Amino acid sequence: MELWIAIIALSAVLLAQAVAAVILLFAIRKKQAGRQTPDEPLEKIESVELQDIVYTYNPGTPQAVRALDHVSVSFAPGHIVGIIGHTGSGKSTLVQMLNGLLRPESGRVLLNGKDIWEKPHRIVQVRFRVGLVMQYPDYQRFEETVEKDVSFGPRNMKLPEEEIKERAERALRFVGLDRDVMEKSPFDLSGGQKRRAAIAGVMAMQPDVLVLDEPAAGLDPRGRDIIFEGIRQYRASTGATVLIISHSMEDMASICDDLVVMDHARVLVSGPTNEIFLQPELLAGAGLDIPKVTQLLEMLRQKGVPVSSGIFTVDRAVAELSRLLGRGEGAS
Ligand SMILES: Nc1ncnc2c1ncn2[C@@H]1O[C@H](COP(=O)(O)OP(=O)(O)OP(=O)(O)O)[C@@H](O)[C@H]1O
Ligand SMILES: [Mg+2]
Repeated sequence: MELWIAIIALSAVLLAQAVAAVILLFAIRKKQAGRQTPDEPLEKIESVELQDIVYTYNPGTPQAVRALDHVSVSFAPGHIVGIIGHTGSGKSTLVQMLNGLLRPESGRVLLNGKDIWEKPHRIVQVRFRVGLVMQYPDYQRFEETVEKDVSFGPRNMKLPEEEIKERAERALRFVGLDRDVMEKSPFDLSGGQKRRAAIAGVMAMQPDVLVLDEPAAGLDPRGRDIIFEGIRQYRASTGATVLIISHSMEDMASICDDLVVMDHARVLVSGPTNEIFLQPELLAGAGLDIPKVTQLLEMLRQKGVPVSSGIFTVDRAVAELSRLLGRGEGAS
């Protein structure tokens, strides 16, 4: 009898051990499946959203500055979105949230609905998918040739050499830089060329979200045209979402589908470009103007010239005035 009891007890112990081992095995498998390695690429980013972001520089000191004050905004996939606002309104701080360069004090940065700070060890992958050209891109240049500099991102992504080369050449074509520039030192380039090389370096990573902080500031009209054409082409060929910060309402009118207006660390309003530029009083309240050409047409309208409203670009204004002068398309 005692022998039987001992056998049953031993069997029960062995069974319990086997069950525990199986449970442990399942738990380990589940944990491994959920944990991606830092090198594993992220899925393509379709949606980008900031939820209730707060950010303060130098918190807890007399120099504390609240740069983002409960900012919530989302960006339509595949659109070119302009971020406008007076100086110091928080534009650069906002875009540095998107690739994890700055970490919010509170609130969430969502890519495809997932908080980028849920897995901080994967933040480098976020930086490959959300490419940021900083406001002062000269700070980003450090390789000895333009080619090496533009290849830096794709090389960090551990892509094959052949693909790195292809991407670098393609990116330089986007920004209209000739092949002979590739062997030069970035320090020997003109201001405009440096800016274009900086943009190419980020485009070469082929980010799903391309963010450009003042990409054309200080350039002549031709330099600006080249950069904006490159950005348009990049969007057209990749379907990427593009965010641009600029103080030029003319540039924003010509390239942006949507606008986000910042004012004192908050988003004042966001929406389609033509709807935003139809609200001059609102923009004036945020220290901004509507495009000069729109102001001019408005003055003409007030003097009785029958020009249409809602014209924000020079090209459309020329077409409108030609129409009025009887020289437009279809004029008899
Ligand atoms: N590194 C920093 N340390 C302390 N304060 C900062 C820092 N960077 C920005 N700020 C402050 O945070 C606020 C928002 O700055 P941010 O650079 O985001 O504005 P911005 O809209 O990009 O301005 P600009 O149009 O001049 O580029 C400003 O008051 C600015 O002085
Ligand atoms: Mg800025």
